[in-house]
Amino acid sequence: MNNPIEKFTSWWQQALKNNPLNQPNAVCVSTIDENGFPTGRFVDLKAVNEGGFVFCSYFDSAKGKHLENVPNIAMTVWWDHVGYQVRIVGIAKKISDRDADTYWQGRSRDAQLTTTSFNQSAIIRDQSDLTEKLRIAELRYSTNPIPRPENWGGYCINPISIEFLTFAETRLHLRESYERSGEQWKKQLLQP
Ligand SMILES: Cc1cc2nc3c(=O)[nH]c(=O)nc-3n(C[C@H](O)[C@H](O)[C@H](O)COP(=O)(O)O)c2cc1C
Repeated sequence: MNNPIEKFTSWWQQALKNNPLNQPNAVCVSTIDENGFPTGRFVDLKAVNEGGFVFCSYFDSAKGKHLENVPNIAMTVWWDHVGYQVRIVGIAKKISDRDADTYWQGRSRDAQLTTTSFNQSAIIRDQSDLTEKLRIAELRYSTNPIPRPENWGGYCINPISIEFLTFAETRLHLRESYERSGEQWKKQLLQP
C-alpha cells in the first residue's frame, strides 16, 4: 500500500476487531518539554483522515503548553494482539472549534462534567479537592447542557514520517518506513 494513512486505517480497523483491551484507542503521544526532554502519555485517538491523527485535550495542560512552544510531536502505538507497532512523527495543529464542538458533544455527560471541572496538569493539595470541584460543577449545570470549555479542544498530528512494524517472534520484524516529500510518500524497508 503506497498511502500510509490508508495503511494505518486498515491496521486500526484490524486492531479494533476482537480487541481484548479496555481502552482500544489509547495511543502514546510525546511532546517536547521546556527543557528539551521528550515526555509521553496516552490519549484516545479520535480519528484519522488525510489531514492526520486527531486527539482531544486541554490546551493549557502540560502537553498543550509544550505544543504551544514546539509543535513537534510523536505518536506511538503497540497493538499486541495483532503484533503491530506504528511510529508517527509530525506537527500538531489545533482542530477547528466546530470539530472540537462535535467531539465535545460525543462525550458522555460525566466526561463533560469532569472535563469542565478540572485544570489538567495543575497541582492539587488533595484528591478530595476534585470531588468538591465536581460537586460545584454539578450544581452549576444541574440538567442544563454543559458548554465546551475554551481551553479544551483537539489537535491533529500532520505526519512527516510513519513507520509500520509487523512483529515476528524470530525478531525478523517487517519495518516499512514512509517519509513525506511534498505530496508524495517515499517508502523504504528498514532492518529490524
Ligand atoms: C487510556 C488513557 C486514555 C487517555 N486519554 C486522554 C485523552 O484523550 N486526552 C487527554 O488529555 N488525556 C488523556 N489521558 C490522560 C493522559 O494520559 C495524561 O495523564 C493527561 O493528558 C495529562 O498529561 P500532561 O500533563 O502531559 O498534559 C488518558 C490516559 C489513559 C491511561
